Amino acid sequence: MIQKFGGPGGLEVLDLPDPAPAGGQVLIAVEAIGVGGVDAVIRRGALAAYGFQEGHIPGGEVAGTVTAVGDGVARSWLGQRVWAFTGTGGGYVEQAIAPVEEIVPLPANLSAVDAVTLGSSGVVAHFGLSRARFAPGESVLVRGASGSIGITAVQLAARGGAGAVAVTTSSAERGDRLRALGATHVLDRSGAGAADAPAGYDVIIDVVAGADLPSFFDRLNPNGRLVVVGAVAGPPPADFGTKMMAAFQKSMSFATFSAATVPGPDRRAVRTEQFTAASRGELRTVVHELLPLDQAALAHRKMDAGEVFGRIVLAP
Ligand SMILES: NC(=O)c1ccc[n+]([C@@H]2O[C@H](COP(=O)([O-])OP(=O)(O)OC[C@H]3O[C@@H](n4cnc5c(N)ncnc54)[C@H](OP(=O)(O)O)[C@@H]3O)[C@@H](O)[C@H]2O)c1
Repeated sequence: MIQKFGGPGGLEVLDLPDPAPAGGQVLIAVEAIGVGGVDAVIRRGALAAYGFQEGHIPGGEVAGTVTAVGDGVARSWLGQRVWAFTGTGGGYVEQAIAPVEEIVPLPANLSAVDAVTLGSSGVVAHFGLSRARFAPGESVLVRGASGSIGITAVQLAARGGAGAVAVTTSSAERGDRLRALGATHVLDRSGAGAADAPAGYDVIIDVVAGADLPSFFDRLNPNGRLVVVGAVAGPPPADFGTKMMAAFQKSMSFATFSAATVPGPDRRAVRTEQFTAASRGELRTVVHELLPLDQAALAHRKMDAGEVFGRIVLAP
């Protein structure tokens, strides 16, 4: 629980009463918890104006076994291994509550740990690419490819027949790991560093945004599409709109994408498909480190230090 906004030290382990599922909910004995970037943003207090107060339990995705169901929920869920979206919090726990429409059964040979590296981020990567109207043969740049969204976007673009899959990352070692996942060109964070990289891109999936967003928008080909799916470097400069208009004659498109706008059944269908692909080894999950739940503060320190490639997973 976030006892005090600020650094990771504000996270504390507490004993709370056992939760019980209300109508439409299930109770899950948690095996694995995905640690997301937004958990750290909430921990710092940056979203206090949006209702996130001290006393918040972070964590949005868990995987484990359904142990109880609320009114109106089929008893056939009992004993099933599932992935679950718990919302904007409530995930860093031993027993989690989730709405039944936000749970997805896991294939027998997909671990809970793998499921929480893919469940949230895979949907963002998939629908981000479809929002960008990505088509086979097109050149793609994934900006901020070292996180779980980028890692899946790289694989989906490569599997989808992209003509090139460029990535931005901060180190050669990460670049090599991204190449092994399907990247064809490795750029530094500024977008330099690969002489043979495409001069322009048809699609940019941007996890970063921030001050450099306009310079990446400029790298779109005519009719290119840039979709911001995350903003780990914060908002773009105030004159971004003016810069976009300056490129009017290239017919380039800018969009944001949030998975919250995708209808639940569509999200479930993609998760089911991606979990199956991962269970067959067709989609790879990258677990940076598995830590015990009571080491959540350490997980956040590693995230704050930029050490994480893929996802940190907590286990109760
Ligand atoms: N659209 C949605 O529905 C949705 C859903 C969930 C989360 N999100 C958002 O997605 C983001 C987190 O995604 P993620 O977990 O995949 O990413 P992440 O791991 O937090 O960051 C991705 C990579 O970006 C690079 N990076 C970090 N800071 C940077 C900076 N200042 N400038 C340039 N590059 C930087 C780092 O790689 P290198 O060090 O290798 O450069 C980092 O590994 C958050 O903004 C979150 O709010 C969106």
